[in-house]
Amino acid sequence: MKKLRVGILFGGRSGEHEISLLSAASVFKAIDKTKYEVVPIGITKEGRWVTAGDAVNLLHGKTAKSARGKPLRAGDPQATSSAAVLSAGQSVIFPPEPQKGRNPSLEPFQADVSSLTRRASDRAINVDIIFPVLHGTFGEDGTIQGLLELADIPYVGAGVLGSAAGMDKDIMKSLFQAARLPIVKHVTVLRSQWEGDTREVRKFIESKLKYPVFVKPANLGSSVGISKAHDREELGPAIEEAAKYDRKIVIEQGVGGKKNKAREIECAVLGNDQPEASVAGEIVPGKEFYDYTAKYLDEGSELFIPAELSKGEMKAFRKLAVAAFRAVDCSGLARVDFLMDPKSRKIYLNEINTMPGFTSISMYPKLWAASGVEYPTLIERLIALGLERYADKKKNQYSR
Ligand SMILES: Nc1ncnc2c1ncn2[C@@H]1O[C@H](COP(=O)(O)OP(=O)(O)O)[C@@H](O)[C@H]1O
Ligand SMILES: [Mg+2]
Repeated sequence: MKKLRVGILFGGRSGEHEISLLSAASVFKAIDKTKYEVVPIGITKEGRWVTAGDAVNLLHGKTAKSARGKPLRAGDPQATSSAAVLSAGQSVIFPPEPQKGRNPSLEPFQADVSSLTRRASDRAINVDIIFPVLHGTFGEDGTIQGLLELADIPYVGAGVLGSAAGMDKDIMKSLFQAARLPIVKHVTVLRSQWEGDTREVRKFIESKLKYPVFVKPANLGSSVGISKAHDREELGPAIEEAAKYDRKIVIEQGVGGKKNKAREIECAVLGNDQPEASVAGEIVPGKEFYDYTAKYLDEGSELFIPAELSKGEMKAFRKLAVAAFRAVDCSGLARVDFLMDPKSRKIYLNEINTMPGFTSISMYPKLWAASGVEYPTLIERLIALGLERYADKKKNQYSR
């Protein structure tokens, strides 16, 4: 049987570029090579697409330590197979049009004149499906998904709408509200409103919410631009910080209030029209909240799988996770994150991540492993779900 050619797309222009390299390296390692042929496709931080002619070499034999045993960063070519592809690969592009009569393919991006003598189609690299292992802006937000739709290539994960809706905390909350799901009290203000009249905006926020509040750029991830404002004095700087990253700023009631930290419960969801939820897990950040350093730099955060919850609570989280997945019209996979008041044990839906961290030790795969789906099987299921969704879409006609 012919092996399915899976293009693994990684890196990208977002702040989570390095996390993506780690996620992709994990997928390369775990994917069943008797069933799939892997085509690694890296996107540099500048947005250039590269693939490896000699992918196999690049994907093997790279260790996580340099010659001197010094630990390397994810972006160093020797640290991960994905970083190696980025540094030594050849430039390619996906033409944003369906490839009539043949498999979708990456075309070499012309750099040197000598290669022009051969027809581009002779050197095109075919793929059957793309797995975008990309986090954040230009990866998780519907933009890449839009390109793949135009190119008519099946892909893993949420479509354009689900990705975009899951990325925008303001729109996501509107959809959760419409589905009557429990979310924290919040307001959304525009950067231009803040620039126009800071006093007025502050008054508006204080009329709706009590301190502490969390101030977030609507579109981003990894806690970038997010701060906790404990009082009026901290509100202004928190808004200024968030306004660096987006024109829309979301301000939320802090769960746990002045005295307590919110509990952070997460559920993994897998499926298309019949999504299923994993057991719920818990993250206990080593800091006051799960900010960027707690996520990626400090060692102090702990994971508990399954989370310590009553039977009824566990059931409630799983049910809400599936409902959240449906509310933003997701497909394939998503990690749904909750906040829980430790005192009242009230549950709030915080956010949905349509391309969660995907290294073998990330929360999403770990939650599935604890629910009976091992990492290589998970990858297989996701590829099958991507193909299923593509086939489903092929049933649509676009005109009468
Ligand atoms: N309303 C809130 N109450 C308490 N803690 C919060 C609240 N909102 C966010 N946090 C804390 O900030 C972290 C990052 O916020 P989140 O909305 O998940 O942003 P990101 O999309 O960057 O992960 C959360 O994991 C949690 O620790
Ligand atoms: Mg989060």
